[in-house]
Order: sequence, then structure tokens, then C-alpha cells
Amino acid sequence: RKFSIVGVPMDLGQMRRGVDMGPSAMRYADAVKRLDNIGYEVEDLGDIHVDQINDDLNDQPYLRNLKAITKAALSLADCVDSIIKNGRFPLVLGGDHSIAIGTLAGVARHFQNLGVIWYDAHGDLNTDETTPSGNIHGMPLAASLGFGHPELTDVGGFHPKVKPENVVIIGARDLDQAERDLIRKHSIKVYTMHEIDRLGMTKVMEETIAYLKETTDGVHLSLDLDGLDPHDAPGVGTPVLGGISYRESHLAMEMLAESGLITSAEFVEVNPILDEKNKTAEVAVALMGSLFGEKLL
Ligand code: ARG
Ligand code: MN
Ligand code: MN
Ligand code: MN
Repeated sequence: RKFSIVGVPMDLGQMRRGVDMGPSAMRYADAVKRLDNIGYEVEDLGDIHVDQINDDLNDQPYLRNLKAITKAALSLADCVDSIIKNGRFPLVLGGDHSIAIGTLAGVARHFQNLGVIWYDAHGDLNTDETTPSGNIHGMPLAASLGFGHPELTDVGGFHPKVKPENVVIIGARDLDQAERDLIRKHSIKVYTMHEIDRLGMTKVMEETIAYLKETTDGVHLSLDLDGLDPHDAPGVGTPVLGGISYRESHLAMEMLAESGLITSAEFVEVNPILDEKNKTAEVAVALMGSLFGEKLL
């Protein structure tokens, strides 16, 4: 496998500055070398351009920074699209989770039945009509499923990018009421922390892999670092106690590596300003190692 890494210095999908430095932090934690050492050919394409805008240019309070976010999403979609066309594996470094709208727009052009693993404390299933915050990083999974404002759902000129039956959410522990309703209405598969505690990560991943293997022709991993417990990944803007541990996360990544299922990936919400000595970026890069087949022996 050949890898292309692309960074998206995006912080407009939420209110805490600094997450735009996530790509630099993961590069500084040696993301490229990590994959190189496993034996892959790796190229770093640098960063997608993100407009630096002033908050008073916001026209839509329920879709904060909509224009700049969709503009970057389209550039990212084109970039990811061309990476896959070149026969390479796209690895996207965020940036807040709103960037997933662009990643999935690019990836979905290549798969009829794209699977998505959403590793996150949150569902990111809000729309402009349900959002409690106006922050677009709380909307990317809804948008990719075709729910929400057309400017978000139709990035790249089509929707949906993914069908509800091809999504698995892992690590959820903070869902808004409208997100719960949407999950029930569309029977989206969710492993909350309750199921992870109860079944153990081994069973959760065995079931997830078996579930997606049946119907999908590719699987995108969207890993929000706040899926992990804030003790292990403190550098995130919306931490929620009681999360997935560092070890459980490594196991999940190792099982995905063995499955050979993953065809694209992104690591998002790393915020170096909120971090402890770049710990969260280092965790992200360590998880990349496991996801892409690193082995001790
Ligand atoms: N549900 C909340 C909202 O919609 C929080 C979303 C957090 N999302 C994230 N990608 N960290 O505002
Ligand atoms: Mn900024
Ligand atoms: Mn989250
Ligand atoms: Mn998220």
C-alpha cells in the first residue's frame, strides 16, 4: 500500500481555537516516519487551504462559518478523490471534525456501498435545525448521511455519501436528543460506552467488522480523538469523561488492521493548545501505527 497524507488546518467547525494546528502536531509526532518504518511508501501532500475568517462575517448562527467550511470541504474532496484515483490510501489529518464532510465527499465517489466507522464520544448527527451549538463539527455524520442543510449534504454535487445501514458509531457517550431520535429512526448501529464495557472491545470490533464486511465495498475510519478518555487524550475541544482507553483503542486498530477492511482514514480534533506536551497527537500517531499493521513481534 502507498499512502498520501493531507492536513486540514480547520478550526471553524467549533469555538475553541488551536485545533487548526492538529496536522502540525501529528507531523511533529512523526506520522510520516511511523508509516515509513512499517515499510510503506508515504508522501505528505501538505495542507489544504482554509480561509482565515473573522467571526463577525458569520451570517448564519446555526451554521457557523458555513461558507469557509464548505469551500475547504470541496478542496479536500478533490484532493482525496485524486489520491484514490492514483491508487493510494488517503490519510487525512485534522482539524476539527467538520472536515469529514469533505473527506467523505471524496471517498464516496469511489464506492457504491461505503462503510463508515465513527469512533467518537459524539454522534455528530445534528443539523442546522437541531444543533445546540451552531458548530458544524457536530454535524458531519448527519451531513454525510444526507441530513441537514443542502450546502453541507451536497458537497461534491451528490448525496448521500453513506447509507445509515453502513455506519457504525463506536464510543458514544454524549448524544443530543435529536441525535438519539435520528439513530433510532434510521436504525444506525451504535456501540456506546455501555456496550464497550459490557461486551469488551474484542467483541465490539468482531461484530463491527463482520457487520461491515457483509455489505460494504470499502470502509472509512473517522477517528475523533475525543472518543478516547480525556485521561489518555486530553488535547481535544469537547472532552467527555468515561471514554475508550488507550489500550482498547490500540486493540480496535489492530483488529481493523487484521481485517484489511479500511480503505481511508482520518484523525481529527487534536488541539495542541489544550494538550499536555503533544500527548494527544502522539496517541493519534501511535494508533495510526496499529491501524496500518505495526507489530511488536
Ligand atoms: N453535540 C454537540 C454539538 O452538536 C457536540 C459535538 C462535538 N463534536 C465533535 N466533533 N467533537 O455541538
Ligand atoms: Mn483560525
Ligand atoms: Mn467528538
Ligand atoms: Mn466528532
